[in-house]
Order: sequence, then structure tokens, then C-alpha cells
Amino acid sequence: MNHARTFPCLSLLLFALLALAGCSQSASEPPLKGATMGGEFSLVGADGPVRSSDFEGRYRIVYFGFASCPDVCPVDLQTIGAGLRAFEAEDPERAAKVQPIFISVDPARDTPAVLAEYVANFHPRLIGLTGSEEEIHQVARDYGVYFQRHEPATPGSDNYLVDHSRVATLYGPAGEPIAIIPHDQGPEGVAAELDRWVE
Ligand code: NI
Repeated sequence: MNHARTFPCLSLLLFALLALAGCSQSASEPPLKGATMGGEFSLVGADGPVRSSDFEGRYRIVYFGFASCPDVCPVDLQTIGAGLRAFEAEDPERAAKVQPIFISVDPARDTPAVLAEYVANFHPRLIGLTGSEEEIHQVARDYGVYFQRHEPATPGSDNYLVDHSRVATLYGPAGEPIAIIPHDQGPEGVAAELDRWVE
């Protein structure tokens, strides 16, 4: 009996707390503000060495994966590419400030040439970066990305999978983390998030 009476009060309280939480995260405050992820990197793209400082002054969408990924990467990259195209159609000037970047977690197979061919499927400005095993481990750690190579079914075979985080992160003009790009919400969700943060 008592429960029936207290429950509405609790839900009102919960609602009030949620409303407060909603208020504290105002539109001008990036959800990842102050997060320590990101930082300097020195990798290799189709045209040679690429450093994080090359993107100074530009927004970056950073996603990690590998070119022979059977399902996860193609789906996510497709959505990110379509979302960026939608934002380009809506506001070409702001969209031009966004650089999409794909970093390989499979440097043994993903040469710069393999990556260049792969990324062209998703967005004309998407760039693919790779590096040494050590450089890739370092940049993944710095950017808060997990990956783990599976053993091939046939020992010594070149046919293996790599588990990896599915997160696409938006970084700002100084390399500061801004927000997670919600590729699970489709191209519209991606475009809306870019519209929210890119100035
Ligand atoms: Ni993948």
C-alpha cells in the first residue's frame, strides 16, 4: 500500500534529477570537454607521413578499424560518410572544416595503398592512416581505443580478425575531444552532431 503512494513521489524526484542533469550539460558544453584522450601522432598515409599537427585548425572525426573487417567497419564508415555528406549538403562551409580520419588497427596488412583504396568507398575526403605496430598501439592507447588481434584459424595464415572499439570521436581545431559521433543513430544522427559542434 505504501509503495503505491511513494512511487509517484520517487518518479517525480527522479524526473527532477534528470532535468537537472540535462540542464548542467548545456548545448555549449562539449560532453568530452576536459577528457584526456587524443594527442600527438605521427603515422603514414597514401602520400607519406601524416602528423596530428597537420590538422591544426580543423575538426577531426577519428575512427579506428581495419580494411578487411567483414561487417563492423563498413557499416560504421558508411554511416559516418553519409552523415558528413548530409552535413556538407546542409552547410558546405562548416563541413569543409571537418577531416574524417580512419586509423588502422591492422598495420601488418593495411599498407597506405590498401587503406587509400578502402577509404575511397566511404567518403572522398576520408584518409586512411597506418604505422608500425608500436605506433598503432600508442595512438590507440592515447585515443582510448581497444583492439585485439585474433589468432588465425590456420596457424601462420594471413586470414585473421581484429576486435576493436566502435567509437568515432569528434576532435576540435586544437585536437581537443568534443563528442562521440553517434553513428548508431544513422547519417541524420551524425549530421546533427556535427551541426551541433562545428563552428
Ligand atoms: Ni572493423
